[in-house]
Amino acid sequence: MPALSGLIRVMERAARKAGNRLRRDFGEVQHLQVSRKGPADFVSKADQIAERTLYDELLAARPDWGFVLEEGGTIEGDPDKPRWIVDPLDGTSNFLHGIPHFAISIAVQEPKPGGGGWDDVTAAVIYQPITDETFWAEKTRGAWLHDGRLRVSARSRLSEALVATGIPFMGHGDFGEWAKIFAAIGPQVAGIRRYGAASLDLAWLAAGRFDGFWESGLKDWDTAAGCLIVREAGGFVSDFRGRSNPIHSAQILAANDSLHSRLHKLLAGSLR
Ligand code: IPD
Ligand code: CA
Ligand code: CA
Repeated sequence: MPALSGLIRVMERAARKAGNRLRRDFGEVQHLQVSRKGPADFVSKADQIAERTLYDELLAARPDWGFVLEEGGTIEGDPDKPRWIVDPLDGTSNFLHGIPHFAISIAVQEPKPGGGGWDDVTAAVIYQPITDETFWAEKTRGAWLHDGRLRVSARSRLSEALVATGIPFMGHGDFGEWAKIFAAIGPQVAGIRRYGAASLDLAWLAAGRFDGFWESGLKDWDTAAGCLIVREAGGFVSDFRGRSNPIHSAQILAANDSLHSRLHKLLAGSLR
């Protein structure tokens, strides 16, 4: 394993601190399921506390960097410095329903040289508090689960592929489009999974647990860290047209090289 950089240490420390609190709150949420009021207010507070913890920790470590926070929005920093892209709780619906599958996602995005916009994501941490797993990557230094190197799966047959997706839900996403893609891919693969946390769909793909993933309507905080982790694990990430961009929030199709082209053929064919 390469020596952990100071940056990854900062990110992991922040994620663990926020994650410890989320883990405790998750215990409480399980009790609140049976209360008449339900856990919704409690969960939105847990989400805010996690974001505040991450913000405080990351700001203390890099005082002049800006933020893109899911809850707090964009906070400008020094335009010549990187910025943090943070989802403090990815998998909120799972958390709310007492399902132990959620994560904290933190990415570092570089400014465009010479100013005027944002460039590549160069560092990523996705921390899953319940399993205590830290998926991380740095550009050109590989993707890792703790000190073990991550590699996307080597499966090349659709008939063996386990594919994750995000299904549209109330007020979110295009059901018609998703159904067409599902009808094209579903019958060809070994299984489709909807786990409910996009950052973990990507991290698990990087770990070879899933062989492919597609979803549309995501945001930068859902995907920025996961896309770097997948690429550094040797995977391929594109939009639905097959184009590769630094962050794919609107549409994501990710897989190992050979499955990516097979899945893309099915997906593109279904939308024609
Ligand atoms: C959601 C999760 C989910 C995806 C949704 C996201 P949140 O993020 O990543 O898997 O399907 O589109 O909004 O709201 O739990 O942070
Ligand atoms: Ca999210
Ligand atoms: Ca969230």
